[in-house]
Amino acid sequence: MQPAVIKKYLPPFKARLYLPGDKSISHRAVFIASLAEGKTLAKNFLFSDDSLATVDAFRKLGVKIVTDVKRRQAAIYAKGLRGLIKPKGPIYVRESGTTMRLLCGVLAGQKFSSLLAGAKTLTSRPMRRILIPLRLMGAEIKSKIKDQKSKTPEEYPPLRIKGQNLKAIAYRMPVASAQVKSAIMFAALYADGKTKIVEQIRSRDHSERMLRLFGASIATQGLKISIKKSNLISPGIVNIPSDISSAAFFMVLAALHDDSDVLLKSIGINPTRRGLIDVLMRMGADIYVKPAVLPKAGVKAAAEPIADIRVKAKSLKGVTIKEKDIPGMIDELPVLMVAASLAGGRTIINGVSELRVKETDRINSMVSNLKKMGAKINFRSKTGAKTKEYIEITGVDELKGARVKSFGDHRTAMSMVVAGLLAKGQTHIDDVGCIDKSFPEFMPIVKNAFGRCVISSRD
Ligand code: S3P
Repeated sequence: MQPAVIKKYLPPFKARLYLPGDKSISHRAVFIASLAEGKTLAKNFLFSDDSLATVDAFRKLGVKIVTDVKRRQAAIYAKGLRGLIKPKGPIYVRESGTTMRLLCGVLAGQKFSSLLAGAKTLTSRPMRRILIPLRLMGAEIKSKIKDQKSKTPEEYPPLRIKGQNLKAIAYRMPVASAQVKSAIMFAALYADGKTKIVEQIRSRDHSERMLRLFGASIATQGLKISIKKSNLISPGIVNIPSDISSAAFFMVLAALHDDSDVLLKSIGINPTRRGLIDVLMRMGADIYVKPAVLPKAGVKAAAEPIADIRVKAKSLKGVTIKEKDIPGMIDELPVLMVAASLAGGRTIINGVSELRVKETDRINSMVSNLKKMGAKINFRSKTGAKTKEYIEITGVDELKGARVKSFGDHRTAMSMVVAGLLAKGQTHIDDVGCIDKSFPEFMPIVKNAFGRCVISSRD
């Protein structure tokens, strides 16, 4: 346990921040480079628990990966689609749901069997969403089923995978999930025929972009993707933009803190990820997005747009967020709830159900924490043919410090640090150690910027 005490910060928040690499793109850089021929240098690679779980997993599958924390880079030396070797013992993916789900797609088409295991927290993350399409492709995967009596029992890790010859499928995605989509696409690299995927709402498209960069036979048109068995060739360098999901905490803090002026450099603004920027703009925030270019090769082809984002303090007003806008900001919803709690008027966030299956149930974690701090935030549901869950927030003038919990969830923890810095009085967070999952530099950055207002220590 690593508790933290946060006090209201009074001086203006002025900073220029170079944040670490995007978590989703860092995972994909290792996945796709590990299946390609040649050496790939992933620059601005994220060194966090989750992305390192992916590095460890591919090392266990025989890929040579040399990391350099100081230079924030990882060199991946791989031998192509059939270059992986049978791992000795289980592949342990720590708490990383992305590693487990995406790896399932890769391992389903190998010529060997493998066992995917994770930390206790991961054993309650649902896996059926990937197992259904992968089994349609011919995958043989055994899971742990907890509720045997249910008609559609949910399935959980550990996952025992017996590699098979796979066949292409046509699949309509029931939920907007980049993890499910990516698992299918990785399996499709090994499958006979052309796999077709149709999304109902677009989820992040980093896998599609990076697969294209590595020469995969992939075509996208609107919500449709088709992908065929293809050999991947390393482009040499992959530049990873800084993570918009990490920038989000500083964007909200700067928007709501008097006289702030913060510049966030080289942030990924992929259209499937920039939802928070657009919502904050609609809320009246003073945000300036200046498109930027990274130096050197790889960037242009990686086609991940980046920008410098400048945020200055300005009072916000409540807005309504539609279900279709949720995938573009799914990981930013906890900190958006903090922003809405201090915005004038009412904010409605529709389509929030997917928040229940993240590292914790983020509806519960954020509603209960923010209520303790005096926010007017409520979970609501409309029953009909399909139950629609939404969150209603009426802004208050001030949050007040309280004892809150991270629930072991990195994004709840960081959102509560932001809430604590804005709130009157002192906020006590039971455990911020979980932040290392995605953003180990977060607490050092806030301590540096906010000095003695932030106190935390390791056990
Ligand atoms: C991720 C996709 C999202 C997101 C998660 C990372 C990815 O999950 O919430 O943090 O890297 O593909 P879903 O695919 O389940 O929506």
